[in-house]
Amino acid sequence: MKIYVTKNKDEMNQKAAELMLERIRKNPSTTLGLATGGTPEATYEYLVEDFQKQGTSYEHITTYNLDEYVGLSKDNPNSYHAYMQEHLFQHINIPLENTHIPNGLAEDLDTECDRYDTHIHGHGGIDLQLLGIGENGHIGFNEPGTSFGSRTHVVELAESTREANARFFDSIEAVPTHAITMGIQTILKAREIMLLISGERKRDALHRLLHGGISEDFPASALKDHPNLTVITDEDAL
Ligand code: GLP
Repeated sequence: MKIYVTKNKDEMNQKAAELMLERIRKNPSTTLGLATGGTPEATYEYLVEDFQKQGTSYEHITTYNLDEYVGLSKDNPNSYHAYMQEHLFQHINIPLENTHIPNGLAEDLDTECDRYDTHIHGHGGIDLQLLGIGENGHIGFNEPGTSFGSRTHVVELAESTREANARFFDSIEAVPTHAITMGIQTILKAREIMLLISGERKRDALHRLLHGGISEDFPASALKDHPNLTVITDEDAL
């Protein structure tokens, strides 16, 4: 595990964007795994800024998002489809057909999960997966207790996760109860993983990641066995 400690959230995001851009410039056909949430918003801002100033091209980049809520349409502002459009895709030259996000409105959700996982695999897997972390150690929407062998699947969100994400919705009742998420095994197959951890709220999670054991009670601990993990944290989370 490689760890960078940055002064604040902004520097953390800048560092993450720099490392991502390094990979993209080296391999313009990189396959990226992308995350949502408050943590990586400014990473995307830095990528957009670079696109506007340096013109780094995304024409041959493919992306797979970690997760999507069940029951929200693509144009619902709280869907992760809308998040990705707003924060990244509409600002860069990535062909929309190269961007993949689970369909939370699929009639048969289990078939959708299989399709998604198979698509990632068929494409040759993910080169670099960007990740945030939940206060309870969830990655994607893999809540504590999820098997480390899990593939893309439907999850029932923990009450604490719904409460943490309620800030993006009008009320807690509006937060979906279920989501589709890449499984932990799906995430671990990425050739490189970059985990961003910011702020006091994540202090316990970071502490447990660094000093705790590997256990399904704490999903992020699965990452400790990954051969190419970079953690970027800010001082507030330390
Ligand atoms: C959400 C997302 C995760 C994200 C995490 C932390 O539930 N599904 O991918 O990493 O929670 O979110 P935030 O960055 O807003 O703290």
